[in-house]
Amino acid sequence: MSPGEKLRVAVLASGRGSNLQALLDAVVEPDYPAEISGVFSDKSDAQALERARKAGVPAVWVDPAGENYEDRLAAEIETVGCDLICCAGYMKILSPAFVARFPDKIINIHPSLLPSFPGLHGQRKALRAGVRVTGCTVHFIDEGVDTGPIILQAAVPVLPEDTEEILSARILWFEHRIYPLAVRLVAEGRVRREGTRVRLSGVEVNQEGGFISPPINFL
Ligand code: GRF
Repeated sequence: MSPGEKLRVAVLASGRGSNLQALLDAVVEPDYPAEISGVFSDKSDAQALERARKAGVPAVWVDPAGENYEDRLAAEIETVGCDLICCAGYMKILSPAFVARFPDKIINIHPSLLPSFPGLHGQRKALRAGVRVTGCTVHFIDEGVDTGPIILQAAVPVLPEDTEEILSARILWFEHRIYPLAVRLVAEGRVRREGTRVRLSGVEVNQEGGFISPPINFL
């Protein structure tokens, strides 16, 4: 990308679209290095499509019924053009063929600290497992389900009285922050995939970050 040019991001979403909204809100900042080229959904009534329309972004429903769904989806994405595809609550599993068509260009956000609790209901699984800390993860998509190289994570405490709804809301607050941050890092060329891992360059790391959960006041 030449200086001043923005990373063009296509978003895939099936539902509510709050992570899409976080990205839409980020891209209106003049110094944010990415823009949304289109939003694509397998659900005609997805709130995400409505959010895209409101923001003046192409909103495209691709009918999942019938033949060659993913080819039609890829063709729609290629029509608007993109440098990165962000899955944001996209409920279909992308096939290896689709992933191969956009190598190292598809990322996802997941509501747990992967590799713990992949698949659906990451928050419910964390509650059932009794973990003290869970969180969210932005990762590249590979051929597996929620297995790709990790770009960013946020750790979120699980508190004794949490319900699935309360914990989901706490995690979501962090999702809305790390997804736009991850896209910014990609746009700035700071994210390099190295096999199963991701190297971030030029990112300041706070060595003292970390906490004990539950937040016990000891001493
Ligand atoms: C989020 O929890 C995300 O981590 C998961 O699906 C949910 C989507 O929420 N992949 P929204 O549609 O972005 O509000």
